[in-house]
Amino acid sequence: MKNFTSVDDIQDLKGLVALAKAVKAAPYANQQLGKNKTLGLLFFNPSLRTRLSTQKAALNLGMHPIVMNLNTEGWTLEFEDGVVMDGAASEHIKEAAQVVSQYCDVIAIRSFPTLTDKEKDEEEYVISAFKKYASVPVISLEGSTEHPLQAVADALTIEEFKTKERPKVVLTWAPHPKALPHAVPNSFVKVMKKADVDFIITHPEGYELNPEFTAGVTITHNQDEAFKDADFIYAKNWSSYIDYGKITSKDPSWTVTPEKMALTDNGKFMHCLPVRRNMIVADAVLDSDSSIVIPQSNNRTWSAQAILTKILENAE
Ligand code: CP
Repeated sequence: MKNFTSVDDIQDLKGLVALAKAVKAAPYANQQLGKNKTLGLLFFNPSLRTRLSTQKAALNLGMHPIVMNLNTEGWTLEFEDGVVMDGAASEHIKEAAQVVSQYCDVIAIRSFPTLTDKEKDEEEYVISAFKKYASVPVISLEGSTEHPLQAVADALTIEEFKTKERPKVVLTWAPHPKALPHAVPNSFVKVMKKADVDFIITHPEGYELNPEFTAGVTITHNQDEAFKDADFIYAKNWSSYIDYGKITSKDPSWTVTPEKMALTDNGKFMHCLPVRRNMIVADAVLDSDSSIVIPQSNNRTWSAQAILTKILENAE
């Protein structure tokens, strides 16, 4: 594996999940692989899980992680070519990416979408620019359109908790006070399309995701119908894709409640976290035995370690 910036970079999901299981069972078995190698983690946005779990994964492999909050601690970057840099930006991505490549063997970047400029967001302009100008592998820690490390952790979690060969998995929209990106649902959709599951998406009208991601997936606006006999409920808010970046509904009837979970077949509740209690999901669900959000977040380490293993093996 050269870069990991999309679920599309996964050639063999089954094999990758098996590798994640293996590194989880023996986290320190491959400490020579990352010896004397540096992972640079560049954050343009906040993080708890991604920031800590990816550093832990690197340490488990013998790597040295170095972290920078680029938006608050670095020079403002210019991404356009050929511009007169007489504005706020002090450094061009061309130099910045090459400079960081001299210090790091792998670069990992978090850069959320603008949610105002659809074209720029869909180009993944920050991560794409790092891929273009860096001379080392690039990992997405959540870009404008995808969160692939989260998706691998989600696939591993479903594999660990499934009680049927082919479980029913539901991705449900749920209300939120702020406009959120599409990266987590997009990558979850992509990874579920690669997995051996019966997959359904449910959301209110107007919350259709990018059809390029959802093509071929069953979509219903009837949440109760979708929840029937489900084995996994994956809740997530996202802003409108059609009315790009806007909130067009905060309908509380979409909150995941014990009554909704009762429609499932003893279904497990999943969310990538952070989660807004009693907006996305009722306390009574999140605090119940059906919630697997904590083991799901633990799997972020094993997802990152599996990806770093693949990238370091390729570089050997
Ligand atoms: N799920 C996730 O990416 O969490 P953080 O935003 O805290 O990293």
